[in-house]
Amino acid sequence: MQHVSVMPAETLEALQLRSGYSALDCTTGMGGHTRLLSSAVGPDGHVFACDTDSESLAMAKANCEGSPSPITFIHTPFSKARQALDALGAGLMDALLADFGTSMMHFQTPERGFSLMHDGPLDMRLDRTSEGPTAADLVNTLSERELADLIYTTGERRSRALARALVRARPVVSMKQFADAILAAVPRTGKLHPATLAALSLRIAVNSEYREIESLIDQLPSLVKPGGRVAFITFHSGEDLIAKTGTRRLAKEGKCRLVNKHVLIPTPEEVRRNPASRSAKMRVLEML
Ligand SMILES: C[S@@+](CC[C@H](N)C(=O)[O-])C[C@H]1O[C@@H](n2cnc3c(N)ncnc32)[C@H](O)[C@@H]1O
Repeated sequence: MQHVSVMPAETLEALQLRSGYSALDCTTGMGGHTRLLSSAVGPDGHVFACDTDSESLAMAKANCEGSPSPITFIHTPFSKARQALDALGAGLMDALLADFGTSMMHFQTPERGFSLMHDGPLDMRLDRTSEGPTAADLVNTLSERELADLIYTTGERRSRALARALVRARPVVSMKQFADAILAAVPRTGKLHPATLAALSLRIAVNSEYREIESLIDQLPSLVKPGGRVAFITFHSGEDLIAKTGTRRLAKEGKCRLVNKHVLIPTPEEVRRNPASRSAKMRVLEML
């Protein structure tokens, strides 16, 4: 399974890791950034690598075998990060990375139900051990109005028409049924599948993604030492707005300093090599 880690050089520059440091990778995914952090902290350092998806964690573990530093893999969502570290007796970290969203693995595995290109169950849970709701639960149980409001959260202007089409097509249990119901209501015009934004809205809701990011920001002073660095990588405007608002609030409260005035973005060369990086934005903080 391939996932190319975004902005690797910028991540290392942002986190200013040294030999012997401890680092928390909140989103280990396929383990690419985790390996990078491990090399930077070396055998005397320690990386704590978390993910809410236990299947990703298992792959990260395999991909990180032989890394220079000890790595502790932890199955936890952001909202329970401090609790998970407490259970291990781990104190404040020197640095923290969160590379938000999903990995390529989620889109390349049809049974996870993220991709409009492959058929599979309409699931979209990042943590398949959680009790739900799945995307199908939302599509089949919300009222048409609630569904339209949910779809509108990513700025989908045709949310009412899409919600009406989905309600008419119930029960919608597979990605193909979901994509076909929307295609029947809104014909394809440009490159983007007309269900793309609706699928993103469902994914964000199923995984409480915005609440999770807010919770991580709230926990930062209890996760990272004063002087320690934090790097956040976001991939769409809603995610970035949550990161921007939360980190500015923390800075106003005197708990951190915003290291860069503007967000950092991948170089044109990186975008050419890895088109999936094109929407990445990095925000860097120093804890006070
Ligand atoms: C963009 S991928 C990370 C890729 C990784 N940095 C790499 O180099 O392979 C995002 C990861 O964050 C995880 N994730 C998303 N929301 C999470 C949350 N609330 N708590 C913990 N992990 C989360 C996803 O399961 C996914 O594996």
